[in-house]
Amino acid sequence: MGTEHFDATAADWDRDEQKVVRAREVARAVATAVPLGPRTRVLDYGAGTGLVTQALAAQIGSMTLADNSPGMRSVIRDKIATGVLPGARVWDLDLERQAAPDERFDLIVTSLVLHHIRALEPVLARFAELLAPGGHLCIADLDREDGSFHHHDFDGHHGFDRAELAAQLVAAGLVEVAVEDCTDFVRDGVTYSVFLAVARRPL
Ligand SMILES: C[S@@+](CC[C@H](N)C(=O)[O-])C[C@H]1O[C@@H](n2cnc3c(N)ncnc32)[C@H](O)[C@@H]1O
Repeated sequence: MGTEHFDATAADWDRDEQKVVRAREVARAVATAVPLGPRTRVLDYGAGTGLVTQALAAQIGSMTLADNSPGMRSVIRDKIATGVLPGARVWDLDLERQAAPDERFDLIVTSLVLHHIRALEPVLARFAELLAPGGHLCIADLDREDGSFHHHDFDGHHGFDRAELAAQLVAAGLVEVAVEDCTDFVRDGVTYSVFLAVARRPL
């Protein structure tokens, strides 16, 4: 899928209060699930406008926000310039197509991104590679849905089966995989549940 949809929606993304609230709920679930501190190096993959990192900012160290949409990266850059995401870095990165940069993170958070990624296996392997030993991966995404969630041009996953995703995380070399309820997403009167999957790179 191209980046056109997200490029076109980036400027008004944060006007949707539900998106802001949902990002806070994802951040709260992440902060409950994994240890955070001023030295925690965080990669927000598919960061969008950076809402999840914004909600975590007071509890973490360095912030790297990656997205393949130029429109989203432009909003992130504005937030860095205006001090909303102080000192953050922004990366043009698509792990479906690019190798993992030679960096290590203590936490990778990716919120409502994986359902857009067709070939999960290489992306999960690259997440594992990007984690420092003992680092955590937190994936917030939709539970399996009937295909009604997306109205725009979409060729990704209609949510995920929790057990299947957990098995894929183990196959990527991660351990201590746990999947729990995280938040909901209401669209056109339909409620879609969102899980948080947490896994750790072995020491
Ligand atoms: C539904 S938005 C979620 C944004 C943000 N994580 C949040 O929760 O507010 C999905 C984001 O993933 C990005 N994305 C989709 N596919 C991607 C890929 N292959 N590589 C990097 N970013 C991707 C999109 O550009 C978009 O910003």
